[in-house]
Amino acid sequence: MKVLEAKFVQGFIRMCNDGWEQGWHERNGGNLSYRIKTDEMESVKEELVYTGEWQEIGTKVPGLAKEFFLVTGSGKYFRNVILDPKDSICIIEIDETGENYRILWGLENGGRPTSELPSHLMNHEVKKEISGGKHRVIYHAHTTNIIALTFVLPLKDEVFTRELWEMATECPVVFPSGIGVVSWMVPGGREIAVATSRLMRQYDVAVWAHHGMFCSGEDFDLTFGLMHTVEKSAEILVKMLSMRPEKLQTITPENFRSLAADFHVTLPEKFLYEK
Ligand code: 13P
Ligand code: ZN
Repeated sequence: MKVLEAKFVQGFIRMCNDGWEQGWHERNGGNLSYRIKTDEMESVKEELVYTGEWQEIGTKVPGLAKEFFLVTGSGKYFRNVILDPKDSICIIEIDETGENYRILWGLENGGRPTSELPSHLMNHEVKKEISGGKHRVIYHAHTTNIIALTFVLPLKDEVFTRELWEMATECPVVFPSGIGVVSWMVPGGREIAVATSRLMRQYDVAVWAHHGMFCSGEDFDLTFGLMHTVEKSAEILVKMLSMRPEKLQTITPENFRSLAADFHVTLPEKFLYEK
């Protein structure tokens, strides 16, 4: 079948548009990547072209050798993906060393995959390993409220996790392992990719101070839902801090322990500190 007829491609395009509609993708902000399954690659092989030039990734991901990814293009706008996917996204192949990629489909008017490809691929490499191959989606968005919080909260995993958990009862169930925070760094390179993928060993969410967020998940629904849940919680926190910085009441560490028992999740004690 044609690439655009495949369910995984349609799911990818829908997710780009959902993110645009949330207001997380001004201009070319944000990027998305999906590690394609073998049978999905087989289903679209008629349109793939294996003569493109190999290009350097800018980092090394030997754990992803010979894998295939659907990725947004650098400088492309999420709002245009649904209108002109062939111009905005591409399928890439990773070579056997894990150091180079080539384009097999898409970006038909030229261009290259997202400038955050090192972060996407290093996160994929970590998540593929520790999830036993289950995680396939890495999503980067410029989520307004999380970004606002990086100016007023200490840039600590414990503080972001605890404050966001307190804002909505479902949060500790949706992201029980917590959230990591990367201090401001230059985006688009290997250094920020190394820092982010280190956090992805522990968490499914990494905040980039004054920039946005990265989320990892098994499929499009779970990964979009994770980004949405964290950002909504951040929105409640922003509203709460704007109304009255001191809480009158909140969810307590004891409440979290009861929730963990009933919902069968493990909440690390490092987030349940006394304030
Ligand atoms: P790209 O257009 O290269 O994907 O970059 C957007 C972005 O959000 C960089 O962090
Ligand atoms: Zn960005």
